[in-house]
Amino acid sequence: MNPNLITYLQPKSPISEAYRMIRTNLHYSSYDKELKTILVTSAGPGEGKSVTMGNIAIAIAQTGKKVLLIDGDLRKPKVHRYFDLANVQGVTNVIVGEAHAEDVIQQPKDMENLYVLTSGPVPPNPSELLGSQKMKDFITSLKEQFDMILIDAPPVGSVTDAAVLSTYIDGVILVIASGQTTIEAAKRARDVLQQVKANVLGVVLNKIKKNNTGSYYYYYYSSYEAYYGEEDTTAKKRRRKKKKKTPDHGVHI
Ligand SMILES: Nc1ncnc2c1ncn2[C@@H]1O[C@H](COP(=O)(O)OP(=O)(O)OP(=O)(O)O)[C@@H](O)[C@H]1O
Ligand SMILES: [Mg+2]
Repeated sequence: MNPNLITYLQPKSPISEAYRMIRTNLHYSSYDKELKTILVTSAGPGEGKSVTMGNIAIAIAQTGKKVLLIDGDLRKPKVHRYFDLANVQGVTNVIVGEAHAEDVIQQPKDMENLYVLTSGPVPPNPSELLGSQKMKDFITSLKEQFDMILIDAPPVGSVTDAAVLSTYIDGVILVIASGQTTIEAAKRARDVLQQVKANVLGVVLNKIKKNNTGSYYYYYYSSYEAYYGEEDTTAKKRRRKKKKKTPDHGVHI
């Protein structure tokens, strides 16, 4: 198991607590429409999309919801490696009609309620495959079987795949690696997503350096930047209060 899947390996750590805050924020981020399919992307490669989505998937599954994590990065798929799974068959096989989803969806060891659909073999035309009617119908059919479908996608700044997926996915999380992504690149990523009318739910600021107390947190904040400071302070206060009451730091839905 990859050491970055901290919500599984160290569920009581402050970092796991931060992922549970993201889970809670996602739960309350949409009033009008149920959020059933969520995609993660970033401006550039290596910002932490797979780590973030893997941990969010585990955190949601820990509440008892049936979660499917799909590797929608058909160019450099990595979800199977994070969860120690084979990637012989996956999304591509299902879409071209070579396999049935129920035969290729896997369950990572000891992770109740969590299911993973790996990418399958890298296809020659990932964008066309992801934008195909077959893929859209497939996602629609999965919505009946799972409470939540999370999709790991490639960077939006490099290829169109994430933008293509965003057109029919309920919500998008943008991961920004602190000290790695330039403001310009992050803005470009936001612009691309806005152009396709993606429902950007918010940003996960990842890879924050440890502070001088030796602890570090991942923050999730609303896409309405004006509220960031306010929300952040209240979230911290709430977290402190909660810690006093119970040794379990979880923010349960
Ligand atoms: N919060 C974090 N703290 C430290 N290292 C991290 C963190 N998040 C990700 N990493 C590291 O950064 C690298 C990239 O992470 P990850 O695979 O999640 O990125 P990605 O955005 O999915 O990459 P790609 O664009 O290649 O799909 C990995 O080596 C991972 O261990
Ligand atoms: Mg990745």
